[in-house]
This record gives sequence, structure tokens and C-alpha cells, in this order.
Amino acid sequence: MNNKKEFQKLENLNQQHLLTFWDKLNEIEQKKLLNQIQNLDIEVFKLQQLLVKNPNSAPEIFEPFEEFKNSGNQELYSFGKEIIAGGKVGCLLIAGGQGSRLRFEGPKGMFPTSLIKRKSLFQIFSEKVVAASKQSNRSLPLAIMTSPLNDVETKTFFQNESFFGLNKDQISFFSQKMLPLLDPNGNLFLDSLFHIAEGPDGNGNALKYFVDSGIWETWYKKGIRYLLYVLVDNPLTDPFDAELVGYHIKSGSEITVKTIKRDNESEKLGLLVKHGEQVLVKEYTEMFPEEQVARRTDGSLKHQVANMSVFCFNMNFVHRVGNLNEVEIPLHKAFKTATFLNSKGEISHPTKPNAWKFEHFIFDLLPFASSVKALLSPRSECYAPLKNFEGQHSIKQVQEAIQARDRTIYTQITKLPPPEHPFELAFDFYYPTIDLMEKYKNKPLPETPYMEPELFYKPPPSQ
Ligand code: UD1
Repeated sequence: MNNKKEFQKLENLNQQHLLTFWDKLNEIEQKKLLNQIQNLDIEVFKLQQLLVKNPNSAPEIFEPFEEFKNSGNQELYSFGKEIIAGGKVGCLLIAGGQGSRLRFEGPKGMFPTSLIKRKSLFQIFSEKVVAASKQSNRSLPLAIMTSPLNDVETKTFFQNESFFGLNKDQISFFSQKMLPLLDPNGNLFLDSLFHIAEGPDGNGNALKYFVDSGIWETWYKKGIRYLLYVLVDNPLTDPFDAELVGYHIKSGSEITVKTIKRDNESEKLGLLVKHGEQVLVKEYTEMFPEEQVARRTDGSLKHQVANMSVFCFNMNFVHRVGNLNEVEIPLHKAFKTATFLNSKGEISHPTKPNAWKFEHFIFDLLPFASSVKALLSPRSECYAPLKNFEGQHSIKQVQEAIQARDRTIYTQITKLPPPEHPFELAFDFYYPTIDLMEKYKNKPLPETPYMEPELFYKPPPSQ
């Protein structure tokens, strides 16, 4: 095997220790290791090393962000609906993460979530897209970003479930990439005899991979001009949020951020802030703690507007930032616990943080936009993320929030109070057609725990 080039690359970077066990590897294992060395981006690696060596940045003070528009505007909603039905909007679902914080082995999107049917997050999002498609009488496009950790499992899951009712040509997948982890001295390390430790590179390169995958071009040719960006971990998200689209277009911005109000100082949320004329999101992991809990003279929180990581982007903007060089988008570091190979060649699972992990954040693209706007929505309508095994943002809280939302929608459709018993609504009620509204006005929905409309729809035409 000719491996001179890769060995030289490691020597130039002073990382030859990765070859300590080279002679013990069989040919396939050697190939795997060589492949990782070939793919190592020298420019990015040097940036990672610089980040490790640099101390954390000095505490920063920001002005609060207050120029949001309150949601609940019927005109914007109707206008957005028209644009969606006109085939100008697509949805990008970010699902590269694993369910580890939920103690769930596998892609987070596969976590059984809904109250009665235990629908997975993937099923919830897919069925919302199916329902929104029926409402728009058009097959609405969905792209899903996976990661090398869960790409195969995610696609197999969708195939085995017949894409949850989506047409095959309506859904596309692409994968994000990984970045190497570094030890406290800024060096690469192995986590098996033939594998360099690495982790997903965050959600901030999603638009780049979306463009690189060719999906941007396919969608643009079909007339898609706006992209809704949503995270898989929040089942209350509307993947075809008509009011967000309507406001985005009417306000003429390149990015519109969907936001909620903070209701306490300790919730792990990115915050919208002003830095001069610029609107930024500062992540909770990086914000100066005193600034995070700062209060106004009336006792209310200084920073009140939080990021849900739901955005509407212009497709032209997506193309522009999708072509940026990777090193132009900031990289963030976090000290985490990572498996490593010890000097005897044994796999070790530490219990304390031991390695630097690197991620790009999607909201670092805000400064690249000519104009940024924000729509503020009530939490009960749009935010119940599934993040933790217990406590805040656990499955119990998420199911309670979905139940509350279902009860509200029940009344919106029927004009009647909801039944006392726990129930779950099919998503057709979230995206009602005129027929459905007519049929169920002043009529209770079926008295079953899972309520779905009788079949009276035509499926949307395939585009
Ligand atoms: C994220 C936001 C935070 C926001 C909060 C709202 C970012 C960087 N931070 O924080 O500002 O207030 O959600 O709930 O967006 N993911 C990938 N690939 C990765 C890493 C993450 O696809 O490499 C996906 C995960 O599947 C998940 C989502 O991104 O759906 C959020 O990731 P997570 O790291 O859990 O974000 P938070 O820390 O909760």
C-alpha cells in the first residue's frame, strides 16, 4: 500500500503518534485510517488548534434585542399559505444528532414521542408535511440532514415505514460531516486502533451541505425561493409555518428568526441580542453568566427573546452562504467526555471531560444577511423540545405540551370544548382543509384516544 503521502502529512502536522499501532492493523483497518488522514482538512485543523490554545474570549455585554413582531397576524398567515401553495417553500429538517441525552441509542428523530400512538419525531414531522401538502394541494418538499453517525439508520427507518406517507420524490436526505476531536494539548487522538476520534460538526454547516448535495439546485429549478429550517427535537414546530413565511417576505429580510420569550434565567437557550446595528444569537454555553441572568430595574430579564433555531431563509442567501469557505464560519469549542485509546492500545471510557469538541452554529450566519427580522410566538404554540431524560424538556413535559396544543386545536376546529380524557390528534387537524373545517364545525371529533378524520381527501398531486 502506498501510504507515503499520508505519513508525510502527519509528520508535517506533528501527529505521527496516530501511527503507534500501524503495524498491528490489517489491510482494511490501515485503509480506514489512511482515509481519515487523507480527509483531514489542514486549514480547519490549524484553526481548531488555535482555538484550543487561545483562552476563552473576554466577557461581552450586549444590548437587548427588542424589535420583534408578535405573531397572530391573520393576513400574514394567509399570505404565507398562498406562497406555500404556490410551491415556493421547502423545509429542511436538522436531524444529525443522537438521542444520547435521552438515554436513547440511535438517531434522536427515532425517539417515540407522541402520547397515544408513540409516533417518533420523524413520523410527527413527516405527517405534518403530508397534512400541509393536503392543505396546499401540492406535494411539499422536505430535506433531512443526517450525520455519519445516523445516516444509514435514519434512511432505513424511513424506508421501513414507507416514508410515513410522503411521496418518495418529496423527501431527500443528505449528511453533515464530522470534525476531529483534540486532546487538551491540541493533538488528534485515536479512539480505536484505526480510528481518529471525531464528532458531528454542529448544525452550522447545514446550508453548505444542502447546497453541496445538489438539493438546493433541484429545488431552485422547481421554483422554491424560501427555506424553512427546523430542528428535529421540537415536535411543536410547524415545518410549513405560513405566518413565518408571510412575515419573512413582507418584511423583505434575508433571514427571519422565529423566537419565544424566556420565562426563566436558567433555561438553556440561545439569546437574541444587539451588537451595534447587528442582530446576533449568543449561545447559552458561551454567554457571560452575569449577562445571561442580568435584570432591568423593574426586575424583568434584560435579555427576553430566545432562539428556537427555527429560521426562514431566502434561497439566494442559502446559496451565497453555502459557498463560503468553511473557515469563514466561526467554530466553537466545548470540553467533553470522549472515548480514547490509551498508550497500551486499550479503549478507555473516561467519566470526566477530556477532549475538545468543535461545532459550527447555524445562527453564526446572521451577520452575513443584509437584513434580519424576528417573529415572536407564544411558547404553547411552538416550543416543547425533547432534550433530556428527566426534568426540564423531558418526554413527560413534551407530551403535556402536545396534549395542550391538541386540545386548543380541537376547539379551533369544532368550536366545542375538548373531552376530558387524554387524546391525540392526527395532523390533518393542524392543517385543516376547507372540507375538514366544514365537516367538523360544531361537531365533536370521534371519541377515540387517537382522533383522525374520516377519509374524504384526494391525495395531493405529485409535482
Ligand atoms: C439549540 C440551539 C439554541 C436554541 C435551542 C432551542 C444551536 C447551536 N443551538 O441548542 O440556540 O436555543 O436549540 O431548543 O442550534 N444537530 C445536528 N448536528 C449536530 C449537532 C446538532 O443535526 O452536529 C441537531 C440535533 O439533532 C438537534 C439540534 O441540532 O435537533 C439541536 O442540537 P443541540 O446540540 O441539542 O442544541 P441545543 O444545545 O439544545
